[in-house]
Order: sequence, then C-alpha cells, then structure tokens
Amino acid sequence: MSIKITTKLAEKSNISSFDPENIVFGRVFTDHMFSCDFKNNQWQDFRIEPFGKIALSPTLSALHYGQAIFEGMKAVKNEDGVITLFRPLENLKRLNHSAERMCMPQLPEEIFMEALEKLLLLDKEWIPAKRGSSLYIRPFMFATDDFLGVKASENYCFMIYACPVSSYYSHPLKVRVEETYTRACKGGVGAAKCAGNYAASMYPTRLAQKDGFDQVLWTDGEHHQYLEETGTSNVFVITPDAVYTPQLNDSLLAGITRDSIITLLRSQGMNVIEKQISINEVIGWHESGTLREMFVSGTAATVTNIEMFSYRGREYRVNAKENLLSTDILNTFNDMKTLIIPDKFDWITILQESTIMHQ
Ligand code: COI
Repeated sequence: MSIKITTKLAEKSNISSFDPENIVFGRVFTDHMFSCDFKNNQWQDFRIEPFGKIALSPTLSALHYGQAIFEGMKAVKNEDGVITLFRPLENLKRLNHSAERMCMPQLPEEIFMEALEKLLLLDKEWIPAKRGSSLYIRPFMFATDDFLGVKASENYCFMIYACPVSSYYSHPLKVRVEETYTRACKGGVGAAKCAGNYAASMYPTRLAQKDGFDQVLWTDGEHHQYLEETGTSNVFVITPDAVYTPQLNDSLLAGITRDSIITLLRSQGMNVIEKQISINEVIGWHESGTLREMFVSGTAATVTNIEMFSYRGREYRVNAKENLLSTDILNTFNDMKTLIIPDKFDWITILQESTIMHQ
C-alpha cells in the first residue's frame, strides 16, 4: 500500500543558516516537515509543508492532559552520498508501544516509512556527511481534541521534523545518583517515550546541574537502590568479567542503542548481563578497582562515558579516557551506518528514491 502525500515546497531553503562545521544540537531545522491527522478513526491528510509554526487551540488536549509521545532517530550520509537509517522499524515499534500505553492510535508502517523517505529525500542536503554528525529525526504524536474533560482524545496529529546534529554531549558526564526524586515507578509510564517523563525529570536535573552535574542517574522508585537510566539515555557498567546494564522493566525506556550495544557485544563474545544493578554493587566494584568504565547510550547521546558519579555526597571517579569500550562501540556503529563494514545484523536501511531497501 502506498499513501498519497501532498507536498508544498518551501519558497526558499534555509540551508545557508546551517554551518556543518559548527553544529549546535537541536537549534536549526530542515526546510520541511511531515504531518497527518487521525480523525474518524483513520489516519488522513498526509502532507509535507515548509517547516514552521502550527496553529493550535488553547483547549488542545495534549497541552492539558499530556497525551504526547515521541521518538528520536538518525539518518547518516556517507562519503559517497548514500543515506542510511539505523533500525527505523524499532522506532516505530516503540512509538506504537508508547501509543498503546498512552491510549493513542497505532501508526501503520507504510505511513511512517513513506513519510520518512519522502521528507528525508526532500531535505537530503541537510544531512551532514561529516563522521559523527547526522540528521536527528523527531517523529511525534499528540492529542488534538478540543475538549476540556479528562478522557482519551479522539483526534491526533503525527508529525516528523529533522535537524542536523553532532554530539549531544561534548564531554564525559558527571552524574548524581538520585535518591530523593523518582523518574518512574512500577506500573507507571517509565517505559513509554512520553513527554511527561521528560517534564518530570527537569526539576531534579536542574538541582543536579546547579551543583555542577550534567545529569541525574535515576534509581528505582521503590528502594532508590537500583540503577535505572539517566534523563536522556540508558546506562552501562563495565567490569573485567562482564558488561552490565539494568534489565528492562516498566519503569525503564527500552533504548534501541542499548539493544544494539547488547547484541553487538554478545556477538563479539562478551558477557553482557541485564540485571538489577544496585548502587552499592557499583561502589563495591569501584572500591575493589574493578570498575573499568561506565557509559550512557541513546540516539542523541550516542555512547558517552561517565567520568564521575556522586552518591550521598561522595564522588567516585571512573576511567573515561583510556582503552574505552565506548570508543570501539561508537566506531563500529559509525562504520556500519556509513557502510564501511557489513551490516551483519540487518540494522541498516538505505534510503533511496521510491524504495526503502535493506542493505
Ligand atoms: C534521544 O536520544 O533521541 C532522546 O529522545 C533523548 C533526548 C534528546 C530527549
């Protein structure tokens, strides 16, 4: 099945405002955006228009009751100008998982993939070819009922916009292990990529940043003992025996980068263990000298080392400079995305005129 996308081109490209040598994350957007509406129980009115403001009613239900979900994904261009996407259908799967939890409609694959293809090919000049840079793509859905009462909306909008980016973090992170505030709890919405999760993290993050930290490292809502994730990414802890990462549960976001790291490292024969990791265990590894490395992973964050974590006012330094597993992982992902090495996991989608094809 194919959808009919109407296209209204921007009168003038804004690309001259974009300096690929000096990219600031999330500030410059490509010339076009995709939108469609869910009305009368079906997705309709597929359109690409110049990127710009959208008119919203003050009664829009997403603004009041928070039915708003999003994804983050990236397109990369190699030296030959070939454009690839990394595991796009995993983003769709997660979007639809978030949609289900938030009582929002499912988005069919053909809408998602055809919208991506058309939008990205139209704005392909914006995809930086410099290694480590990419086009960050933000698909999102929000409730559009004009109604004051609290109920699941009947109308929704799905949109995609994109912006050229380099790294989200420009340096290794200092994180504070959070014990006072809670990001998510059992039975809550922590595993959904919904706007409210990010809103709830802002106050504790601001407090941590005032004290000189980059991020909070969330612990579980019940005991404040087990590591969960940071405000933007999943977390990994490396010892000589194993690579550990918190096991997924309903208060953790199932990162696609997280899953890719686990699969990659296991394929290289490494012992990757998904389990509950207590902060005391990590401190024990630190004290015995077996804590080799810690890093966070995410689409925006890519793979970024933690150079220090703080727990109950004490600071613990972690190697973020030498023999880093994070560097190997990042290089492998970059090589895979730019087709320098084969994609043995079938993760890469090459973006081409009229066909989305697997490598
Ligand atoms: C991502 O990594 O894509 C995210 O959504 C995290 C953040 C930029 C909010």
